[in-house]
Amino acid sequence: MTVVLRPMREQDLDVVVPLEQELFAGDPPWSAEQFRSELSGVPETRWYVVAEAGDEVVGYAGLQVPVLAGDPADVMTIAVAPAHQRGGVGTVLMTAMEAEARRRGAVELLLDVRADNEPAKTFYARHGFERIAVRRKYYGGGRDGLVLRKWLRAAAEAER
Ligand SMILES: CC(C)(COP(=O)(O)OP(=O)(O)OC[C@H]1O[C@@H](n2cnc3c(N)ncnc32)[C@H](O)[C@@H]1OP(=O)(O)O)[C@@H](O)C(=O)NCCC(=O)NCCS
Repeated sequence: MTVVLRPMREQDLDVVVPLEQELFAGDPPWSAEQFRSELSGVPETRWYVVAEAGDEVVGYAGLQVPVLAGDPADVMTIAVAPAHQRGGVGTVLMTAMEAEARRRGAVELLLDVRADNEPAKTFYARHGFERIAVRRKYYGGGRDGLVLRKWLRAAAEAER
């Protein structure tokens, strides 16, 4: 499947918000208003893309980019439509986020994941993320979150 990334637009929310509700039902999912607020940060503090297969939006991702030198970049969201999962779309989105984080000078990339989200944890491990903290009851239903990190530069490894 050929996937093309392009900037997320407000019109995409007609597809993105229902996908969000399907994929993050109990987390809780972001509302259209929350997405609009995120998009209002582009390009200064945010970077958002959708993945298209043909003319269908099959995934999306968003990054908080560093503002000050030394700030980390944060994965705000990453999601792939159920029918298109395990086809490499998530990897295309993550690779692009990493590239953008590096381009904007981030030394490390952070993210939060639900502690019981095994598919996502496997996906992130596959992409080189390591657990650095636990956030107790961070998600809906009192579920714990994990903070994961990936170093983006060898120099940062050496400074630890
Ligand atoms: C996590 C997510 C974005 C991955 O997207 P994807 O397009 O399915 O991922 P890819 O096809 O690029 O997978 C790459 C590798 O990640 C791992 N992986 C991905 N999904 C997996 C699953 N369901 N079970 C186990 N491993 C999985 C595998 O190692 C996979 O490689 P393989 O298919 O060759 O075995 C997707 O599962 C998703 O949208 N989940 C729901 C939303 C979500 O939980 N987002 C993360 C919130 S923190």
